[in-house]
Amino acid sequence: MKNKIEELIESKNKISLGGGEKRIEKQHKSSKFTARERINLLLDEGSFVEIDAFVKHRCTNFEMEKVEAEADGVVTGYGTVDGRLIFVYAQDFTVLGGSLGEMHAAKICKVQDMAIKMGAPIVGFNDSGGARIQEGVDALSGYGNIFYRNTLASGVVPQISVIVGPCAGGAVYSPALTDFIFMVENTGMMFITGPQVIKSVTGEEVSQEELGGAVTHNKISGVAHFIDSNEEDCIQRIKRLLSYLPSNNLEEPPIIEADDNINRVEERLNEIIPENPNKSYDMKEIINILADKGEFFEVQPYYAQNMITGYIRLNGMTVGVIGNQPKVLAGCIDVNASDKAGRFIRTCDAFNIPLLNLVDVPGFLPGTEQEYGGIIRHGAKMLYAYSEATVPKVTLIIRKAYGGAYLAMCSKDLGADQVFAWPNAEIAVMGPEGAANIIFKKEIEGSEDPVEFRKEKIAEYKDTVNNPYIAASRGYVDDVIVPSTTRPRLISAFDMLRSKREERPAKKHGNIPL
Ligand code: HXC
Repeated sequence: MKNKIEELIESKNKISLGGGEKRIEKQHKSSKFTARERINLLLDEGSFVEIDAFVKHRCTNFEMEKVEAEADGVVTGYGTVDGRLIFVYAQDFTVLGGSLGEMHAAKICKVQDMAIKMGAPIVGFNDSGGARIQEGVDALSGYGNIFYRNTLASGVVPQISVIVGPCAGGAVYSPALTDFIFMVENTGMMFITGPQVIKSVTGEEVSQEELGGAVTHNKISGVAHFIDSNEEDCIQRIKRLLSYLPSNNLEEPPIIEADDNINRVEERLNEIIPENPNKSYDMKEIINILADKGEFFEVQPYYAQNMITGYIRLNGMTVGVIGNQPKVLAGCIDVNASDKAGRFIRTCDAFNIPLLNLVDVPGFLPGTEQEYGGIIRHGAKMLYAYSEATVPKVTLIIRKAYGGAYLAMCSKDLGADQVFAWPNAEIAVMGPEGAANIIFKKEIEGSEDPVEFRKEKIAEYKDTVNNPYIAASRGYVDDVIVPSTTRPRLISAFDMLRSKREERPAKKHGNIPL
């Protein structure tokens, strides 16, 4: 027994070195941690339990039987983050470039299955040369099995992908099927076809970083949700995200009570809106003021910045915030903003996270670019996602709420449980200038002083229609509130809504416009 135990320890030690010291050194020189280092940084100290360390590939093509691939290039198992169960896998680039073959995939599938069964989040570190070329169709099948389980797990347990190395070709579709993608600058790379293929097919020249680096996917494509300049910061951010999420779709998010006053009245909110309705302000300042301890965990902060998405806590409870940003495109909703918000709303709804909708929206962004880009189809995602969501939904109309965009930001009709408005709110079919031009067109043209007459009509329109009291008189707005009292009012509303239950007609699944 003694010898056998020594043998076991020896082989485990060998396995834990992955592709060996030299390759580990190379990994470190490229500012990358190894698979095991990543897992240990993520999980509570000493909590990692590895499974399937002895798994080996079965490939015999190209003399692969002679190739030792420790743990078959992926470290898998479970542990805890802040004491909560988490499943993990981390591709080991030091072993055959982290390439994915049949058994490598089987290991990932096993932890995916376990995460679904146990109802715990799964975090996957991607650092791989893609399908293991020697294994051919077995490698492709491996990816297929992972994609299938990504889809089964979707809406059941939070799935987080971390891109800390190459992730190319069809391999990108596993992260794409998960809820959140984290990328590290300069090392994380995602693309369907690399620069060389692009050059040979289209003649276009582009660097790897420009094509599929962290900045590209956080700012331009919207594929990724978070960017960090190094792996340590990235892993800390993953932990923060996990703190806002429940472990699965049958649980509520953890309550983390902050030392913050639930009756906090903030005078700043009474003066934050500029007198001139065409002037902007920073919606994030309002979010920070409302949140427990001023903490806002923003999701996709660099993409479609006209729409803000992220998490705050109110009286310790996670709340998903969707807000128009008047500072960018005057807060208009465009194709990208619709996609960003639609996806975020559905993520929150899947995981029992109540929604707070902060409205200051002049409308959908006009123009051929938007129309040709399918703003009708994309904007419909917001209407669909809000209508479909059964979590508590609270809408606060801060300033403008015009036309279809008023509905798209979750009006009462789309199932908002509580709608509040600040006294300066403008709720109407369109802005006063546009409205006056249309309904008083003839009178303006026929008047002696069209400029002055138009001004009068604009003022008349503002007084009669463009305020929150008509909406409030019909019950579309539950209450008009003093801005400074918003935080206590929201806390009270979400508290009241905690026991919300809503039944929907049975169906296989809906058909969200994609
Ligand atoms: C087998 C691979 C591999 C792969 C890398 N390696 N990728 N082995 N299959 N896909 C091996 C290398 O042979 C090398 O082995 C070790 O991993 C490290 O690779 P290097 O090239 O030395 O590292 P580096 O210079 O950092 O370059 C990394 C890389 C490059 C850019 C990822 O390796 C690369 O271009 N690999 C091929 C990428 C690719 O085309 N994959 C297929 C994508 S298509 P040794 O023994 O020398 O250390 C795909 C389809 C999925 O994935 C479809 C799903 C539906």
